[in-house]
Amino acid sequence: MIRSVLTGTGSALPVRRVSNAELAETVDTSDAWIVERTGIRFRHIAGPGETTGTLGADAARAAIAAAGLVPTDIDLIVLATATPDQTFPATATKVQALLEIGDCVAFDVAAVCSGFLYAVQVADAMLRTGIHKRALVIGAETFSRILDWEDRATCVLFGDGAGAIVLEAHDSDDTPADARGVLATRLHADGRHNDLLYVDGGPSTTGTVGKLRMKGREVFRHAVTNLSAVMGESLDLAGLTTADVDWVVPHQANARILDATARKLGLSPDRVVVTVDQHANTSAASVPLALDVATRDGRIKRGHLVVLEAMGGGFTWGAAVIRM
Ligand code: UT7
Repeated sequence: MIRSVLTGTGSALPVRRVSNAELAETVDTSDAWIVERTGIRFRHIAGPGETTGTLGADAARAAIAAAGLVPTDIDLIVLATATPDQTFPATATKVQALLEIGDCVAFDVAAVCSGFLYAVQVADAMLRTGIHKRALVIGAETFSRILDWEDRATCVLFGDGAGAIVLEAHDSDDTPADARGVLATRLHADGRHNDLLYVDGGPSTTGTVGKLRMKGREVFRHAVTNLSAVMGESLDLAGLTTADVDWVVPHQANARILDATARKLGLSPDRVVVTVDQHANTSAASVPLALDVATRDGRIKRGHLVVLEAMGGGFTWGAAVIRM
C-alpha cells in the first residue's frame, strides 16, 4: 500500500517579536493576566512585506531542504489558512510562484485553527491515490491583520507565523505498529457553533475583511472535550493506544487547554509539545510550527509516534497519528 511519509518540517516567523509587557503599553491588559490565563508570553507580528504567502513560502523552503529535495520535486501544495493574501487566488499558488515550482496542483483549505489537520488528511488521501508523489502541506497565518486591537479579550491571544511539512508517497507493507507515515486521520465539523468563533466580515456578506470575534469561555469548554475525544478516535483508527504515543503536538491556543486535554487522556504533560508561550495562537500554523520546533531541537526523532490535534472556528476539529 501507499503511505504518506513525513520527510521534512520547516517553519517561519515574522521578524517582530512582541512581549506581553509591550502589548500592555497600548492594550488594557497585563503580563500577569495573559500568562496566568493562557501561558502566552510572546507572539510574532507580521510587518510590511510579511504576508501569509511569504511566511508560508519561507516555511516551505525549510521543509523541502529538510526533506533533501528541491522545490521542483513538489507536485502538490495544500495550504491551510484563514488569512489568505487575497480573497483569490489561493495563497498556495503564491507559494508555488515564490518557490518557482512549475506545474503542480495548488489550493487552499479553510478550516481555521484545524486547517492544518484538514490539509494533512486531504494531502494524504491525494498521495494514496498514486496520482501525486510529493506534497507540501502548509499552515500559514497573519491573524494580526484580522484582530480588533481594541478588544483585549482576543487581541492578546494570537500571533503570526507558518509551518510546513513534506509528505512523500512511499510503498509500504508494514503494519501500523511499525510503519512510518500518516497512520490515521480523523476530522469533525459542527456548524451549529459558527457564532462562538468567527470573523464579522467577508466578501459575500459585508464586502470587507472583518475582525475576529470569540466567546472564549464557551470555546474553551468545547475544546477540551472535543480534542481528547478525537485523539482517542484517531488512535483507535490506527489500532494504537495512548501508551504508544511518544509526543502530542497540539494546537497552541491556551496552556490550560493543553494541560486539561492531556490529563483527560491520561498523558503525561512531558510528552506534550508546548510553544504557546513563544508563539501564542497562530491558528492553522500552530501545529506545524510546534512540530518543526520539536523536530529541530531533537525531541521528536525518526520512529517516534506523534499525534497532532487542533480545534477551531466552525467548530472544526481533528487529529492525525503519524510515525516519523
Ligand atoms: O484557536 C481556537 C481555539 N481558541 C481557544 O481555544 C480559546 C479558548 N478560550 C480561552 O483560551 C480562554 O477562555 C480565554 C483565554 C480567551 C479567556 O480566559 P477566561 O479564563 O475564560 O477569562 P474570561 O473570558 O472569562 O474573562 C475573565 C475576566 C473578565 O473580567 P470580569 O468580567 O471577570 O471582570 C475579562 O473582562 O478577564 C477579563 N479579561 C482580561 N483582563 C486583562 C479578558 N481579557 C483580558 C485581558 N487582560 N487581555
